[in-house]
Amino acid sequence: MADRKLHVACIMDGNGRWARRRGLPRTAGHTAGEEALAVITRAAGDRNIGWLTVFGFSTENWIRPRAEVRHILAMHKKLFGRLDELNENDVRVNWIGRRFDEPGSRTPGYVQRAIKRAIDDTAGNTRMVFTVAFDYGGRAELTRAAQLASSGRGAAHVDPKQISDALYDPSLPDVDLLIRTSGETRISNFLLWQINGAKVYFTEKTWPDMTAEEFDRALAVLN
Ligand code: FPP
Repeated sequence: MADRKLHVACIMDGNGRWARRRGLPRTAGHTAGEEALAVITRAAGDRNIGWLTVFGFSTENWIRPRAEVRHILAMHKKLFGRLDELNENDVRVNWIGRRFDEPGSRTPGYVQRAIKRAIDDTAGNTRMVFTVAFDYGGRAELTRAAQLASSGRGAAHVDPKQISDALYDPSLPDVDLLIRTSGETRISNFLLWQINGAKVYFTEKTWPDMTAEEFDRALAVLN
């Protein structure tokens, strides 16, 4: 196991199924998912996790129905607005994803501002780095990294370190544990470079049903 603090990553799946089982609209599932994430963020900090990275919104998620996309974006604004809680827990907010000035970027201004403000307002916190992958895709990240790494030196001279240095956030360490909820056993374009060597924990629980106890069961696979 790593001799640094641990990096745990989560694919938060099953918000829609959680809602359907209760006869609720999908949006209610995302609302509950945001609340579960606040619980897990606190639990991770308490367990001395150094980095928690979650898949909030993928480059593929824009094709969902407009009202659902709007709601998921609003949940991001809510999450990034939990500044008192994040500061109380000494959590530093971080973001990875398609740059806002890249052609094709669709992130609305209010989400950009919420992200920037959360990053700025928590910049001094040191207990845990909480990274939200928003408008994120692993292939897009790697394609961009390969382009940046090869520009000026020629593709034949690119080595893994240069790719690694050109990722959205080169300071993120490799993932130690990847958790995916809701019974799906796929990676879905998440942190393709960084999960090299990660252990993977799949649970049948939907994301809104995720608890600190389930998080502990996941962490136990590292023992
Ligand atoms: C999967 O549920 C979850 C997402 C599409 C990501 C959005 C996550 C949240 C809103 C939780 C809070 C997180 C943040 C960062 C605000 P799904 O809709 O794919 O569920 P289904 O597979 O059951 O339909």
